[in-house]
Amino acid sequence: MTPDVQSLLRAGAAATDAALERLLPPATAIPQSIHAAMRHSTFAGGKRLRPVLAIEAARAVAGVVPAGVEELGAALEMLHTYSLVHDDLPALDNDDLRRGKPTCHVVFGEAIAILAGDALQTHAYRVLAGIACPPEARIEIIRRVAEATGTEDGMIGGQVLDLEGENTAATAASVEAIHRAKTGALIRVSVVAGGLYAGANAEQCALLTTFGTKAGLAFQIVDDILDMTQTSEQLGKTAGKDVATEKATWPAVHGLEQAHKDAERLVEEAFAALSTFGPHADSLKAVASYLVERQH
Ligand code: IPE
Ligand code: IPE
Ligand code: MG
Ligand code: MG
Ligand code: MG
Repeated sequence: MTPDVQSLLRAGAAATDAALERLLPPATAIPQSIHAAMRHSTFAGGKRLRPVLAIEAARAVAGVVPAGVEELGAALEMLHTYSLVHDDLPALDNDDLRRGKPTCHVVFGEAIAILAGDALQTHAYRVLAGIACPPEARIEIIRRVAEATGTEDGMIGGQVLDLEGENTAATAASVEAIHRAKTGALIRVSVVAGGLYAGANAEQCALLTTFGTKAGLAFQIVDDILDMTQTSEQLGKTAGKDVATEKATWPAVHGLEQAHKDAERLVEEAFAALSTFGPHADSLKAVASYLVERQH
């Protein structure tokens, strides 16, 4: 039976939101401004796709959802939210709408938004230090998450390439390098970390890495497509920004039709990496399909 992806997403998001609520400092803690800013962006209405991927990868390895994996998901979501707060800053993409709400710097000012991003990042590692898996797996997760969000083929490095690629002629190779790093790396490590949490062996980690790399690239191709084809209301963020700022996007290099085909092909290829997991990976596959079928 094909798992109902909407129920998986709803359940994963609910578990993640409850963990975030519990793990983030309360809005009343001093200094209140930064805690309000961290919560504003975290609870503005994200899809929680990275936590859901971690939870479903853990299910693929263990056959059940292991207790406490939602805390790993919450830490991944803090890191993702930090990347969005900084991505929207005037010095980066200069956006005033995110997750259907005014961006962090619009509400709290640039200084607090920068610090809220920093704080979400450091808090994520505090949470990761306490996740309920064996210590060796915990250390491996922390190392891999730090690498995937770092400068060498990680999120920050990808953001640098993305900014430096504005108004310059993108190539198939340059746009793939940007996408693999700025977005693909965090998606990939979400999948692998979920697997490690559930006790994945080296071979399973390698398969999840292949799956996550392909699904992560497909995810950003679809983000580029949606920027061109949806409205700001549908997206909850400013549509049409990539063309306006001459970003290096997949459709800019390959065209919209080919972008759709490439995203679908990548997800098919990603599925192939999961064959040895059998039916335990059906939910993870369903979430990957959603990554390319989504409308926002
Ligand atoms: C948007 O990510 C930003 C990118 C990394 C491309 P999502 O589409 O997962 O955004 P939220 O978390 O649902 O807001
Ligand atoms: C953002 O890519 C990637 C990160 C936040 C690391 P985009 O700039 O394309 O994301 P959106 O479209 O603003 O969400
Ligand atoms: Mg950007
Ligand atoms: Mg942006
Ligand atoms: Mg985008």
